[in-house]
Amino acid sequence: MAETRKFPHHLIREIFEQPDALRRTIAPRVSLAEGRVCLDQIHISREELRALRRMNIVASGTSRHAGMTGQYMMQELAGVPVDVDYASEFEYRNPMIGRGELSIFITQSGETADTIASQREARRKGSRTIAISNVEGSTIAREADGFIYTHAGPEISIASTKAFTGQMACLFLFALYLGKIKEEVSKELAQQYIGELLALPQKTETILAAAHQVEKLADLYYRVDDFMFLGRAIHYPIAMDGALKLKEVSYIHAEGYPTGEAKHGPNALIDFRLPLLMIATCDRNHAGSVVRYQKNLGNMEGFKKQGATVIALATEGDIAVPQLADHTVFIPAAPELLSPILEIVPLQLFAYYVAAKRGLDVDRPRNLVKAVTLE
Ligand code: AGP
Repeated sequence: MAETRKFPHHLIREIFEQPDALRRTIAPRVSLAEGRVCLDQIHISREELRALRRMNIVASGTSRHAGMTGQYMMQELAGVPVDVDYASEFEYRNPMIGRGELSIFITQSGETADTIASQREARRKGSRTIAISNVEGSTIAREADGFIYTHAGPEISIASTKAFTGQMACLFLFALYLGKIKEEVSKELAQQYIGELLALPQKTETILAAAHQVEKLADLYYRVDDFMFLGRAIHYPIAMDGALKLKEVSYIHAEGYPTGEAKHGPNALIDFRLPLLMIATCDRNHAGSVVRYQKNLGNMEGFKKQGATVIALATEGDIAVPQLADHTVFIPAAPELLSPILEIVPLQLFAYYVAAKRGLDVDRPRNLVKAVTLE
């Protein structure tokens, strides 16, 4: 899809490269017939993984948002408790980690100073380490016990897009791998999930084919100076990343918040001046997702009564969300744990089109660098 088009910026090209990037990340590592995930660069024995008591995920920026989704994946599929930290804060909390634990460090560049320092700290304390990186042979990968490469291809634009979806795919692969070792995931369930993983690139193409709809939204909102992004559970980190993308490339103030937290303060801000971007997708086969979806509808109704404008992300075929929201962007149906990989794509497109309409240097936003190599 990306190869046959000419793009004015790296950012939009990289957003459109995601279907192919996901194919490279996922397809060579799974066998649908056997319900098997193959991660041969983990270099940690099955016995050690079976005995795992706890995990830490440490990263910065967008990579940390991927880590937050990974927490839901690992806990649901492998039944292992997971803590997620900002790399820049990790050592300050004197992390109580050690033997019998695994720490995962996520970094697109593999050269982020805080993430490298955190990995060294975890190793000093006796934790086993795995690096998820997009750059082969990067410092983080060289120093880790094992690694999983995202294989997203070079990411030039400062805003991270295809590396982010690749990181979430890698985390899911590892969660499935661990879930099977710990006998929390049956062969049948693994096969179902592998089928869904393999369907992601095609679903991403469907979203990208409707990019013009997101561009129309950007036309309506590119002059607005504040936005709030809301999401629950595994969709909350996606709200955070949607807000981060918008602020870094368009210089618009945007906050990502858990939907249920709005009533604990931010609701005072919500009126006609603050557009909301609400993630209100639903996996009908997941009981927790259905409950959260109902709560989201209730929240949306309340925000509308306060005069807010709501742009919603909903699952294809949904009829309740479009009745409440001012604008609805549809996402193909996917399992709860995989839906974030699709949801972020329209939010990336929104940030891109808004920044482009503001006439900004979308690939090199002011004051930012691609890899923060100084602490
Ligand atoms: C993402 O759009 C940002 N540019 C930034 O948050 C980035 O994800 C962060 O600096 C971490 O970089 P890394 O993944 O290379 O470690």
